[in-house]
Amino acid sequence: MYLIKEIKEIAPKIKKMVLEAPLLAKKHKAGQFVMVINTEKGERIPLTIADKDPEKGEITLIFQEVGKSTIEMGLRKPGEYIYDVVGPLGRPTHIINYGNVVCIGGGVGTAPLYPITKKMKETGNYIITILGARNKDLFILEKEMESVSDEFYQTTDDGTKGRHGLVTDELQALIDSGKKIDLVLAIGPAIMMKFVSLLTKKYNIPTMVSLNSIMVDGTGMCGACRVSVGGVTKFVCVDGPEFDGHQVNFDELLKRQAMYKDMEEIALKKFLEELKKKEPCGGCHA
Ligand SMILES: Cc1cc2nc3c(=O)[nH]c(=O)nc-3n(C[C@H](O)[C@H](O)[C@H](O)COP(=O)(O)OP(=O)(O)OC[C@H]3O[C@@H](n4cnc5c(N)ncnc54)[C@H](O)[C@@H]3O)c2cc1C
Ligand code: FES
Repeated sequence: MYLIKEIKEIAPKIKKMVLEAPLLAKKHKAGQFVMVINTEKGERIPLTIADKDPEKGEITLIFQEVGKSTIEMGLRKPGEYIYDVVGPLGRPTHIINYGNVVCIGGGVGTAPLYPITKKMKETGNYIITILGARNKDLFILEKEMESVSDEFYQTTDDGTKGRHGLVTDELQALIDSGKKIDLVLAIGPAIMMKFVSLLTKKYNIPTMVSLNSIMVDGTGMCGACRVSVGGVTKFVCVDGPEFDGHQVNFDELLKRQAMYKDMEEIALKKFLEELKKKEPCGGCHA
């Protein structure tokens, strides 16, 4: 059981949860994730540790409410307990002094990107950050990301902050400026990581992406998270979550992510109906 120390909304439908988890805070390395089981009957949700405080024995999770399990988790209160947190899982990010590193975060992908960027900066890399969101209200961890960046750019789809356009437009501008780029690290929706990888491939810029495949057990046994990388089957939970973006079959990943869409919709509908019976506004998710 893991005590919830804090829970708050940091952007529309994006929540930050601080948990008392001393062993996880001590063992976690940038790039790793945990499997969160909200209640005894809950499913396993893979979430990245967005921050930690080993002295206080706390970890921070940042999650977007997209379906039944994440919405249910978002309704929890400080002082309550999360049934279980399994981890840290996955391979830590390979962090060395690459030189100039461009860190690209799309939407809630900024949460897993932050601890990696922080460590990249501590290791002596020159950090150029590009954060992208649909509009200015949807950015998260802006101050934190800016504080570990040497250059900081933002893009919005609607032009309400930073460059009007996509993260790839800002990346193209950086490439066109002649800036030497030694590594691009992109974390966000699969479609964003696909287009970042296609762009950097043209210029032979090494690119790392963190894949958010559907997971079940998180231990390499069930095969749910399988992806094709360089024509070889890999399991995101044990071989990843980071891979060479130029080798990933993103179209297959996108198809597999949508595999349980019908069942997920039914589960969410049933959950919201039950919630509505208990709370008149359906927890305000109706
Ligand atoms: C290694 C890893 C780390 C992750 N870290 C984070 C994190 O730090 N913060 C965060 O908000 N999310 C993270 N995710 C995604 C998160 O696990 C899913 O959003 C969550 O499991 C959805 O559960 P649900 O029951 O609420 O929604 P579901 O009902 O299962 O899904 C609702 C809809 O959400 C989308 N979805 C479901 N699963 C995923 C997925 N794995 N990736 C992308 N879209 C998905 C689909 O469009 C789906 O139809 C991570 C995923 C992985 C694999
Ligand atoms: S989640 Fe089961 S093998 Fe990766």
